[in-house]
Amino acid sequence: MSESSTPVTAEHFRYIAAHTQPEDPFLAELKREASAAGIPAIWISPEQASLMQILLKLCKAREVIEVGTLAGYSAIAMARALPDGGRVRTVELSDKHADFAERWIARSDVADRIEVHRGSGADVLPTFADASADAAFLDADKENYALYLDQTRRTIRPGGLIMVDNAFAFGQLFDEHPTDPETPAVRCFNEYISQATWVQSIIVPLGDGCWVGVKS
Ligand code: DHB
Ligand code: MG
Repeated sequence: MSESSTPVTAEHFRYIAAHTQPEDPFLAELKREASAAGIPAIWISPEQASLMQILLKLCKAREVIEVGTLAGYSAIAMARALPDGGRVRTVELSDKHADFAERWIARSDVADRIEVHRGSGADVLPTFADASADAAFLDADKENYALYLDQTRRTIRPGGLIMVDNAFAFGQLFDEHPTDPETPAVRCFNEYISQATWVQSIIVPLGDGCWVGVKS
């Protein structure tokens, strides 16, 4: 630990949550309905959504790429941080998740700012043009995170914002015998991004750990 760091505890997390603007009723309802539809409750926290909105506003993002739509929660949250005419292209492999997300995106206040692209990140990201985005959020299968990061390097502009979910591997980062099969892939990715020289990045300890980076 660096000097003058305060170890972040569960109490700090609760305190941060209590000092973040509450989630709006629409997104709260989306989560209830997604759970009722059998979609896993692995969306980002309101605190992480707020951080991501602040970063998107700071870099004046208009074009965002997301890998892993799930129920559409993060796509809607990010789209709300964009100016009129902004766009989130979000990639989703599961038709069930894409169907749900499209229904809720259509009902949202940012329906005109979000496109759902069906397929795997490995297939869809190569169809996006070079330097066609200002920011990217990676939150899909962890085994392919390095591939998604390489595609992000190509598809975002210099100075673009990179955000990657689950740096803490679902809370199992330091477990000797992690039960989640994706934990080794997260550890591997954490080494990969931290050694990349084209991006300055840091893990922000919100949610399950969120990499935040800027492309040089
Ligand atoms: C899982 C995936 C996520 O992206 C996340 O934020 C939490 C959990 C999972 O695959 O279990
Ligand atoms: Mg995630």
